[in-house]
Amino acid sequence: MSAPVALSPAQVVLVRASYAAITRLEQDYSARFYHRLLERHPFTRALFPDDLTRQISVFRLTVDALIAQLDQPEAQPGAARAALAELGQRHVGYGVLTHHYAYVGEVLLDTFAEMAGDGFDAATRTAWEALYAAVAQAMLDPPVPAAERKP
Ligand code: HEM
Repeated sequence: MSAPVALSPAQVVLVRASYAAITRLEQDYSARFYHRLLERHPFTRALFPDDLTRQISVFRLTVDALIAQLDQPEAQPGAARAALAELGQRHVGYGVLTHHYAYVGEVLLDTFAEMAGDGFDAATRTAWEALYAAVAQAMLDPPVPAAERKP
């Protein structure tokens, strides 16, 4: 899945470098993120299955893929957008509401900031905010009918 995002090249570098630093740490950021999300927004507990193990790893793999493909010219821009729109549609089925995206974005970036320490400066946070906003936007877009997808 590619991100339908135009971050500046400098922002791509900041996102990549900070993500590499965070994923090198012994602690799994995704596990910490979910722990913080449930702590800060306890209502989300009821949305997820009791055992979060799979969710923690699937979320991390999704972010891995988004980061890896950040600056690759997309072979299928329409399909990439549609994949995020479909992911967003499934979230409607999970009971996720539009305003929940802001909660998740804030908790995720706070988790990164806490784990990356001084390396997570203001420019890095702004770059992540731009990425998260674009992904959330693509997930919240109305679904693209298959017939209208670009080849
Ligand atoms: C950038 C934003 C997000 C990404 C990349 C993301 C990613 C994912 C992925 C990959 C799954 C696995 C299931 C599937 O593919 O359909 C999933 C499930 C789920 N996500 Fe998200 N998500 C995001 C935002 C949110 C938000 C804002 C919430 C609100 C609390 C949320 C709650 C859930 C829930 C409840 C499930 C289903 C768990 C289950 O029943 O197995 N997600 N998410």
